Amino acid sequence: MSEVVEPVEDGAVERPHRGIKSFVMRSGRMTEGQQRGLDLGWPKFGLQLEDGLRDFDQVFGRSAPRTFEIGFGMGHATLEMAAAAPEQDFIGVEVHKPGVGALLNGMLTQNLSNIRVYSCDALEVLRDCVADASLDRLLLFFPDPWHKSRHHKRRIVQPAFAELVRQKLKIGGVLHMATDWEQYAEHMLEVLNVAPGYRNLAADGRCVERPSERPVTKFERRGERLGHGVWDLKFQRID
Ligand SMILES: C[S@@+](CC[C@H](N)C(=O)[O-])C[C@H]1O[C@@H](n2cnc3c(N)ncnc32)[C@H](O)[C@@H]1O
Repeated sequence: MSEVVEPVEDGAVERPHRGIKSFVMRSGRMTEGQQRGLDLGWPKFGLQLEDGLRDFDQVFGRSAPRTFEIGFGMGHATLEMAAAAPEQDFIGVEVHKPGVGALLNGMLTQNLSNIRVYSCDALEVLRDCVADASLDRLLLFFPDPWHKSRHHKRRIVQPAFAELVRQKLKIGGVLHMATDWEQYAEHMLEVLNVAPGYRNLAADGRCVERPSERPVTKFERRGERLGHGVWDLKFQRID
């Protein structure tokens, strides 16, 4: 059977794939700083999917509250959170190489050592590298909304995602999602409000107030000026 190369919503052409992927591999030129991040930061802070299950206490050299972030983009929020909480550890995963370089470069510039980075599909990392019941928080900030109905199946938030995340969170651990696309927020609510083993932390069973620990991104600030909304959702693992 021949594989189909389908055009995706941003006009790029996607490579054939067998499983559903929540991202498109974008080509992008690396800036000098991003290249520096990859050259000097990756050997210190980069981790490989192929190394399989990790003992993150050993990786970080300490036992500390642990946050896993999916799709950190250029790493602005990650850097801000890690700088504000040196007593906590962060594992960031992003498929876009220039973003990985940018985060690593930021770590070097700010002299941060409480972040480790994977450059591949975060779902594979969660599945293969992270022990069950080992995460305090899982962050999913502004995931690709996949606007068109025929692309909704590519949204990362699905029942299987909810179950995988539940397994990896400690009991009491929290999945925190944010989106600026109202229909995606509704979709997140539909999936998570019926997912077994979770409690919605919003008093009204919908969205929480903007949590102060989530840094405001440049993109979000621009959205606010244009009157766009942002929805934050928090679900706690209770079982
Ligand atoms: C819309 S951007 C948001 C970036 C960032 N969180 C922010 O708030 O600015 C979504 C990011 O998620 C990444 N992404 C999507 N699916 C992913 C996956 N399965 N594993 C790793 N990264 C993923 C994309 O490459 C993209 O950079």
